[in-house]
Amino acid sequence: MSRSVLVVGGGGREHALCRSLSQSESISDVHVSPGNAGTLNYATNHSVSASDVDGLVSLSRSLGVDFVVVGPEAPLCDSIADILLSHGIPCFGPQAVHAELEGSKLFAKEAMRRADVPTADYVVLDSRSDIESALSSYSDNPWVIKRDVLAGGKGVVVTTNLSEAVEFIDDSIKTDGHVLLESFLPGEEASMLVVMDASGFVCLPPSQDHKRVWDGDKGLNTGGMGAYCPAPVVTEEIHQKVLERIVKPMHESLSAMDVPYRGVLYVGLMIDENGDPFVVEFNVRFGDPECQVTLPLIASDVGELLYAASTDSLETSSVSFHDMHCLTVVLASEGYPQSAVKGRIILGAERTGDSDDAWVSHAGTGTDDSNRLISTGGRVLATTSIASSLAEARANSYQRMETISLQGSHHRNDIGHRAL
Ligand code: AMP
Ligand code: GLY
Repeated sequence: MSRSVLVVGGGGREHALCRSLSQSESISDVHVSPGNAGTLNYATNHSVSASDVDGLVSLSRSLGVDFVVVGPEAPLCDSIADILLSHGIPCFGPQAVHAELEGSKLFAKEAMRRADVPTADYVVLDSRSDIESALSSYSDNPWVIKRDVLAGGKGVVVTTNLSEAVEFIDDSIKTDGHVLLESFLPGEEASMLVVMDASGFVCLPPSQDHKRVWDGDKGLNTGGMGAYCPAPVVTEEIHQKVLERIVKPMHESLSAMDVPYRGVLYVGLMIDENGDPFVVEFNVRFGDPECQVTLPLIASDVGELLYAASTDSLETSSVSFHDMHCLTVVLASEGYPQSAVKGRIILGAERTGDSDDAWVSHAGTGTDDSNRLISTGGRVLATTSIASSLAEARANSYQRMETISLQGSHHRNDIGHRAL
């Protein structure tokens, strides 16, 4: 079987998708739009933006691809899967009714409530609510306040500061009409990526992201500064609980709807001190950087897996994993995450510096007029390694990072610290 695929997006996640798809025997041609300077090594880059749904559908049709893999959530919320399907093109990534699981925190909470999936208690606040009394009834722990819109990772505030809490609630109600206040879940976070379709689901090995910008989990939240997989915090026993209490009921309830969920459901977990898992959030796409450390651990054909999930044939496909460890370290631009200095020259990130077990995934990269590699975003690139132990994967990733230079850039030095 030899299929062609279009990957939508242009970050580190899409670099990882292009790399794995290009290594898949079932795939003959990989296209990506818009891609980045690194995806050029594995795919044909196209210039349609990931937010231009009509343009992407036209591109898919003119290329005649066998299926489309959507990286980011925004085009899914904007119905790209629905439109592709109406043209007979299978899509890895759910239709808009399901993309709301990420697009609206309230929708996700209601879906969890219906399926009896463990998550934090919450209240919805609007202009008629008694905000003071709501805050006082949730005051035993930090307040967790969530906007009910896609906010690019900036829609959640966790704080013990009353005036900050009140200000965020007021502002959110003003712009969005309402906001969620939920109880604080103590514990350790992990990410579970579950590939699903109408016929079944496949849990990929659990991973752990590092969301804070500085070592020791200090500083502002980011899109993710590094990740590793598998995450030992998810023991076999906890994995079983996640399966029984979260994945199976969600799959059952999503499959009972008119439109099945086809794609990957990202389950953001909080695991408490008793080893009980709670859902912090759902995303309707691969996590970034979790994707970079999860896909390389899939031993079977990644193209076959993603195509199967796009066409409701997961049940009959077999998936296997390497008994290895993967770790990635993100290099960010000066000023990230508040503001990022872009347009600087990057040295040392060429593919010639990569090996089969340590490589660079590009994210915010492009080329200047003289075809030199430059930074174009906050998260610029990541060095990823696969090895037989986590310690070795970490050493290799940091070794590859040392060969790269970008003025003013920064990365964390403690990726994997919870497991090592
Ligand atoms: P979210 O966008 O819902 O994943 O929230 C962003 C981050 O806020 C999460 O990764 C957690 O670190 C934190 N967070 C969200 N909800 C909670 C909660 N109920 N309890 C504790 N931390 C939370
Ligand atoms: N790494 C977190 C996310 O992709 O949302």
